Amino acid sequence: MFVPGLIERKRDGGSLGSEEWRDLLAAYADGRVPDYQMAALLMACFLRGLGREETAGLLDGMMASGGRLDLAHLGRPVVDKHSTGGVGDKVSLVLAPLVAACGIVVPMMSGRGLGHTGGTLDKLESIPGFRTALSLEETLAQLARVGCAMIGQTPEIAPVDKKLYALRDVTATVECIPLISASIMSKKLSEGLTGLVLDVKLGSGAFITDEGRSRELAETMIRLGEDRGCPTVALLTAMDRPLGRACGNALEAEEAINALKGEGPEDLHDLTIAEGVEMLLLGRKTPPSAASRAAAVAELEEAITSGRAAEQFQRIIEAQGGNPAVVDDPGLLPTAPRVEVFRATHGGTVLRVEPRAIGRAIVQMGGGRQKVDDVVDPSVGMVISARPGQAVEKGEALASIYARDEDGVTIARRSLEQSIAIGEGKASPLPLIAARITAQGFEPLV
Ligand code: URA
Repeated sequence: MFVPGLIERKRDGGSLGSEEWRDLLAAYADGRVPDYQMAALLMACFLRGLGREETAGLLDGMMASGGRLDLAHLGRPVVDKHSTGGVGDKVSLVLAPLVAACGIVVPMMSGRGLGHTGGTLDKLESIPGFRTALSLEETLAQLARVGCAMIGQTPEIAPVDKKLYALRDVTATVECIPLISASIMSKKLSEGLTGLVLDVKLGSGAFITDEGRSRELAETMIRLGEDRGCPTVALLTAMDRPLGRACGNALEAEEAINALKGEGPEDLHDLTIAEGVEMLLLGRKTPPSAASRAAAVAELEEAITSGRAAEQFQRIIEAQGGNPAVVDDPGLLPTAPRVEVFRATHGGTVLRVEPRAIGRAIVQMGGGRQKVDDVVDPSVGMVISARPGQAVEKGEALASIYARDEDGVTIARRSLEQSIAIGEGKASPLPLIAARITAQGFEPLV
């Protein structure tokens, strides 16, 4: 393999074949290809793009770098979901136990906070004792026993993706649809799934802010999944305001626990149910119809109202070394020493609640990482009650700030001043769920 030749071909608009990708990635994984050559190739990919077949070759090469969970012996449907990430998006914490309580095996493999967006692993780790770094063996045993594991990427799953992602992060080559698609799908398809639901965010707080590109991302991932025998469905959902009210790790874990008991905010509940319906239908290979959707909604609602979903979360927490008592008493979650109310300086209509400023502020307050080795403070964040379209009066509470010190309060205040726009006129938030995309096509839901 002559790597400069591969880089040159890609630079000049050509493409690499599947075997070339496989050999190159294997060589990169074990250190025979240095970072500087891979960085040059990634930039050529970023600038030239990858066609459908080449993206598939890249994905297969990434998956070949590791193993694959084999859960066929469980004889049950295995379904996961992936969100492209946002602010206040704690759906995974509610959805995984909820769907597992309905009999679907959920091997939920998630990531950490990235940029302004929060990460499921950081939220779970705010639960005292909760371990997300399970080995493959522990994961398999827990899936058989409990039906759900909520973990980080194990060293066996697409290990070259981890190395490539770290390199892309520092070479400005992250925001490239084929690279993102292959990266996400290499991990998800290695979980041995029988179905996958994608939550692709739209709006100013999304990772990709252009609606057309979000749709392209969803369609690329669906094709990759379907071509490898994993039925894949995507929902395009709103991230032009935070999801729910709580933003920040422990605050989000608390809100997720409330949602599991049917006491969460409406948008979090509705999105969780919508994704849960897709997971149940995919898992059971039930064709979507008004009747099958209504039955799935009823089943999910029953799992919440009966307490089975919350009990399932307790079992997962216990299995992963955490304190299951947090489900009955969220007061056991870490709490910030400073709590301040943020109030409206004038009356009017809430026109916008901009998520990006909130997410960045939480990182600066200590709730996320500015450097890879930063330790996250799980207690900090904000609970934002102001919603776009709401009429507010001067002095009305719009949010609560949870900080570890005065600097944190100042950062949060400034971000809320920037984020929450109050004025005359009409708010025009995105619909919570704008569209559903499958291999059969695009279905607008509004
Ligand atoms: N998340 C991933 O796992 N990979 C990407 O490339 C981007 C987001």
